[in-house]
Amino acid sequence: MSSKAVVFDAYRTLYDIQSVAETTEDVFPGYGEIITQVWRIKQLEYTWLRSLMRHYRDFAAVTRDSLAYTLRVLGLSYERDAFERVIETYLHLDLYPDAAATLAALKPRKLAILSNGSPDMLDALVRNSGLDRLLDATISVDARKVFKPSPDAYELIGPGLGTPPNEVLFVSSNPWDVAGAKAFGLNVAWIERVMPEAMALACVENELVAPLTMFKAIRTQMDELGFAPDHRVRSLSELPEIA
Ligand code: LAC
Repeated sequence: MSSKAVVFDAYRTLYDIQSVAETTEDVFPGYGEIITQVWRIKQLEYTWLRSLMRHYRDFAAVTRDSLAYTLRVLGLSYERDAFERVIETYLHLDLYPDAAATLAALKPRKLAILSNGSPDMLDALVRNSGLDRLLDATISVDARKVFKPSPDAYELIGPGLGTPPNEVLFVSSNPWDVAGAKAFGLNVAWIERVMPEAMALACVENELVAPLTMFKAIRTQMDELGFAPDHRVRSLSELPEIA
């Protein structure tokens, strides 16, 4: 397939959301992992609930609200500066090691991000990571005031990039996002970073299932929604072979 454009999801596709764990553990010793996993699960849940309720608040607000929920239910008290230190991590997430090289290898195709992230979050993250030197556009769903996987979100790709959907390869590691992009009609590559066998083994081997294993069981495997990706790859670096 020779795509004219490759559009990436941001969080957990280009940027590793698990990289907040160092700060969450530092600020809340002993709770770093449970905070990291519950926070991400609730953050996504709030985007879906707000879209269905038609009570949109941007991803910056949803990220703050889901963190506040997480700390409350874990019974953690905190000062404002501790909260802000954790929130700030979303502007400095680690890029996956092969992200920049993969984008460079995909040139001269048009390259963009389509993300739930609010414009201010995405602009800061893209600038802080240097991807602004490789991307032709950073598209936030905020323009439509609804989150992925609403088709209204994926519709932004056309005007945002000036490329018709049938010439676009959409890339995500988030199964719900893969299903949404496929339901919209895009050609989709899934970055399958968690193999089911490894997760199943983690459950069998340990009496207690770690929060990260629980997260992997809930958020990393293709869902029973009747939409499957066109391509399944293990890492971003495999994309130039299929784009
Ligand atoms: C994104 C995350 C939420 O839209 O997947 O970048």
